[in-house]
Amino acid sequence: MDVKKLIILGSGTMGHGIAQAAIFGGFDVCLYDIAQNFLDKAKDKIKGSIEKHFVAKGKITKEEGDAIFARLKTYTNLEEAAKDADFVIEAVPEDLALKKKIFAELDKICPVHTILATNTSVLPVTAIAGATGRQDKVVGTHFFNPAAVMKLVEVVLPIGVAEETVETAFAVAKKMGKVPVKVKDTPGFIVNRLLGPLYMEAAQMVLEGTATAEDIDTAMRLGAGHPMGPCELADFGGFDVIQMAQDAVFDYTHSEASKLNILYRKMLEAGRLGRKNGKGFYDYLPDGTKKPFKLF
Ligand code: 3HC
Repeated sequence: MDVKKLIILGSGTMGHGIAQAAIFGGFDVCLYDIAQNFLDKAKDKIKGSIEKHFVAKGKITKEEGDAIFARLKTYTNLEEAAKDADFVIEAVPEDLALKKKIFAELDKICPVHTILATNTSVLPVTAIAGATGRQDKVVGTHFFNPAAVMKLVEVVLPIGVAEETVETAFAVAKKMGKVPVKVKDTPGFIVNRLLGPLYMEAAQMVLEGTATAEDIDTAMRLGAGHPMGPCELADFGGFDVIQMAQDAVFDYTHSEASKLNILYRKMLEAGRLGRKNGKGFYDYLPDGTKKPFKLF
């Protein structure tokens, strides 16, 4: 299917990053959220990012940047945004009841040919598809944070998905400059299932005092070529999201390596969510620097 009209639901971290990748890929994008002030913030971030990462670096001209930004339209009325959509990418908060409600609504609003994709990283895509009467046209498109930069999209296959839906999701991802891979709908998909044990073992080493979070991060950056060490990456993803993902993966695999390490539970009990509230393995300071958090 030739996707002409692309809708993105949710203008948070993932939604606006996906929107940025989509306008750079040449799509005309309708970005939907429940309130105009969320959309205004997302537009400011995208505009700022075009300026900082592209225009200021001489990668594109100011005129080219303006033309790319002009491909973005915003909506607070779902029906208006989605009524003639070809492809919808949902990136609202990770709440299964909310996602099911939105997919049931989209199923009523959108034309019969519309493909509905979810960006969930932890929830079962099959259960989201089950809220619609078009299970063959529902798929997962899991982008990675920061979505404007990270090249991977996991195309997640719920049971009953049609081959054409998967092919279209691949084409959309490629047009955005991404590299899609296929994975069946199982907890953690590929990347989070593999990252989980790394996060767990890093936390265990911090708890045992084997090495500091800072030294673990340095070691994995310089010794294994990871762009971020496991502690800073766990902070970046957020401990609440990690808890949800690990609980789902452990429930499925029963692998000890995936069992949530107690340190994440304790961090959450202490109100430490990671970078999103400035408190994780590190304290993130207003001047943009960070310092290691002393556990005991
Ligand atoms: N838009 C466009 N380009 C951007 C950008 C943006 N918003 N932000 C950064 N860039 C570009 C920069 O311009 C720069 O480009 P250049 O090399 O051509 O000059 C390049 O990206 C690198 O950016 P910076 O120099 O500012 O910063 P770093 O080199 O420190 O890279 C990073 C930052 C890309 C975040 C890097 O640290 C990284 O790759 N980290 C790992 C992130 C990761 O693993 N994410 C996955 C997490 S798991 C997940 O998302 C799963 C989900 O379910 C939660």
